[in-house]
Amino acid sequence: MDTLTTTNVQTNTDTFPINGTDYVEFYVGNAKQAALFYQHCFGFELVAYKGPETGSREVVSYVLQQGKIRFVITSAFSPEHEILKHVDKHGDGIKVLALWVDNAEEAHSKALERGATCAMEPVKLEDEHGYIKMAAIKTYGETIHALIERSNYNGVFMPGYVAKKSTAKIKPLGFKYVDHCVGNVELGEMNKWVKFYEDVLGFKLLITFDDEDISTEYSALMSKVVSNGNGYIKFPINEPAQGKKKSQIEEFLDFYRGPGVQHVAIATDDIVSTVEGLRDNGVEFLYVPETYYEDILERVGGIKEDLEALKRNNILIDRDEEGYLLQIFTKPLQDRPTVFFEIIQRNGARSFGKGNFKALFESIEREQELRGNL
Ligand code: FE2
Repeated sequence: MDTLTTTNVQTNTDTFPINGTDYVEFYVGNAKQAALFYQHCFGFELVAYKGPETGSREVVSYVLQQGKIRFVITSAFSPEHEILKHVDKHGDGIKVLALWVDNAEEAHSKALERGATCAMEPVKLEDEHGYIKMAAIKTYGETIHALIERSNYNGVFMPGYVAKKSTAKIKPLGFKYVDHCVGNVELGEMNKWVKFYEDVLGFKLLITFDDEDISTEYSALMSKVVSNGNGYIKFPINEPAQGKKKSQIEEFLDFYRGPGVQHVAIATDDIVSTVEGLRDNGVEFLYVPETYYEDILERVGGIKEDLEALKRNNILIDRDEEGYLLQIFTKPLQDRPTVFFEIIQRNGARSFGKGNFKALFESIEREQELRGNL
């Protein structure tokens, strides 16, 4: 299971080889319902399951897949279980960004030597399909990176799970791979976590956005993007900046009760049909006013897509030196205004839509105001 992006340059300086994103795991209050939400609204297929029927007495997990993206939706039964304590504090959210490596033990010990904190000692899990090895390290807040070695496993996900299919007919919506995963951290913490990814995982700083780039009349944020050696993994890290009112990052930190994953960006080759499918299924997106489109082609130049279709679906456009990109953001995926998805189509551009930040943050502020949190 790998996660491809438009960059694919192997460098000799990659001191922590990662093949791609292995899975993204959500801790939720009700995994049965959440798994149906991601199947029916987002077009993920159920592929594996563990729960009491399979001998898992405390934890239940549904494994969903679309394209190269794998989500694990997990809950637990006892209020004393750490999963439900996590849900109690943070609400439904992303606990694990799992990285696919060739040697989990080696990666884990290398990470610890370089200053990471252990979240799970290496284990070997075995069944009739072979074995996987996994370990984990901590990152911002209570989020962790699992390190997954699966070259000796040919089962559907990992030992402990049984293959299980969606009971309804699911229509895939063109999700291809995880483009990037964004973390929100507290004021003054961004550089610490950038350094963590540089020192521990050998990531390189790709882009810096300061509060001049990302500010509106009311709120501001700063962001740095780090990327691994082969460019398959990109982690922007945001921190709030001083603004007149509460920034969207502060709202997240208040409601998530600390740092955590803010959004997962999902790549598609045909954003119009992906977004139309999502809208048909009831997925809600951030709204930008019609005026955004008035002089858009003067700002971004020619595009292949039908501008009317982009406008109708409220899809944003931005261009950099290498090409252009199309993007749109969902509203939060749960009642707390925390984690959401970005849908992105890259036509050459490798950046993150800086030209859309202002329109986007004004849109987020309108939502914040409706929630009474601006
Ligand atoms: Fe993004």
